[in-house]
Amino acid sequence: MLTDQYDFGMIGLGTMGRNLLLNMADHGVRGAGYDKDGDKGRLLEQEANGTAVKGFSDLQAFLDSLKQPRAIMMLVPAGKIVDEVIAELQPLLSKGDILIDGGNSYFKDTERRVAALEPQGLHFFGMGISGGEEGARRGPSMMPGGDKEAYRVMQPILEAIAAKVDHEPCVTYIGPGAAGHFVKMVHNGIEYGLMQLIAETYAFMKQGLGMDNEAIGNVFGEWNRGRLQSFLLEITASIFSYREKGADHLLLDDIRDEARAKGTGKWTSQIAMDLEAPIPTIDIAVSMRDLSKYKSLREQLSASFANAGRPAGDNREAQLAQLEQAFFGSMVMAYTQGLHLLAKGSDAFGYELDLAAIARIWRGGCIIRSAFLQDIYAAFTKDAQLPLLLADTAVAAQVTEAVPGWRKILGEAIASGLAMPAYAASLSYLDSISSAHMPTNLIQAQRDYFGAHTYEKVGSEGVFHTQWSQG
Ligand code: 6PG
Repeated sequence: MLTDQYDFGMIGLGTMGRNLLLNMADHGVRGAGYDKDGDKGRLLEQEANGTAVKGFSDLQAFLDSLKQPRAIMMLVPAGKIVDEVIAELQPLLSKGDILIDGGNSYFKDTERRVAALEPQGLHFFGMGISGGEEGARRGPSMMPGGDKEAYRVMQPILEAIAAKVDHEPCVTYIGPGAAGHFVKMVHNGIEYGLMQLIAETYAFMKQGLGMDNEAIGNVFGEWNRGRLQSFLLEITASIFSYREKGADHLLLDDIRDEARAKGTGKWTSQIAMDLEAPIPTIDIAVSMRDLSKYKSLREQLSASFANAGRPAGDNREAQLAQLEQAFFGSMVMAYTQGLHLLAKGSDAFGYELDLAAIARIWRGGCIIRSAFLQDIYAAFTKDAQLPLLLADTAVAAQVTEAVPGWRKILGEAIASGLAMPAYAASLSYLDSISSAHMPTNLIQAQRDYFGAHTYEKVGSEGVFHTQWSQG
């Protein structure tokens, strides 16, 4: 039997697991894969085409084949299965071994697992991996959190397989405990926000400006060559040219308008509420996916409220330029809110997050990679204590320049009955966070009126209560 042969172990040989092992093989890392289903291991070896990758369907043989301390990644569906795999492995592992959960697990589950394995001297890592199947094969962005010393064991392997931007790997040690899964969750929250913004942009062009699919695809493609360059715009442009074999129309037009979700966006909104970090662009993106599922109710109500999607203006060229500004501003708000949540979570959970480093590793490999992440990286490199991305003068200047077009587009959308809730939430977020005076004094007065909840007074110390009703 082979002993101590392999540098890295993978449990779960679906496409992601196999692709990561093949990526490792490209970089001279000897990987062993385990899957109960022996066919998956055989497929892996076929795909590896003679490179040093081995598939196992016997767990003990797989574990024996790994160098010690072992570094083993699980790529299995989040939830119960992760606990089942851990329970099976725990008695077979040795002190110092590293177990990495590379899935989208809920960060509080990861926190619990780290604590449960620690007494045995096992290092449990929650590692967000972004980039999908292609990223896994060619270079993902990875967000590992756990024991800092243990990270050094796998650091060279992760740096070798990560995406590179300016020769820098898109991976870094994120922080202790579940920091890695927390950061990946927020990455996905931003992803939800950006996807919703792109979907609303599509609606504005299609219904508001009456553009056909080809013209819409061209705009997305053009934006992707400018300051808005991003992976999500790139794939969107390509969706707008995809036809199934023999079809006379886009596949997109055959897809039902009901969005599914696996939970990371919802978790982002839930924890943001707990931490009192306002992230309305992301919240609305989660809500709109949920709303989209009420298809038959929407159909029923559309008969009574026939107000959606009338043309919005008639100056296409000028409006497209304004739409680009509106998208830019809204996109910046999605990142701003996500990074703010990262900072709040870092304080609350002791993750000591380095926002500049996170922006740096998001520049390549991941789903939310974009040209603008370079600006975010620059902003937090200049000032690690920046209270909000918008407090950076260079970012503020770019957003300020986008505001007039942004207001114009939203005004037209609202007047035409076109729903652009993520654009609207983003602009209202900006208008509120940049406002020295909010109408919340009235909310305090109301709370005190009906519930004697007290209020603070401008220019006075202490709390006050008033007997408001004079009758
Ligand atoms: C990534 C993606 C990936 C996955 C999402 C999809 O970073 O590579 O975010 O993790 O595709 O979980 O999430 P929903 O199914 O919730 O849209």
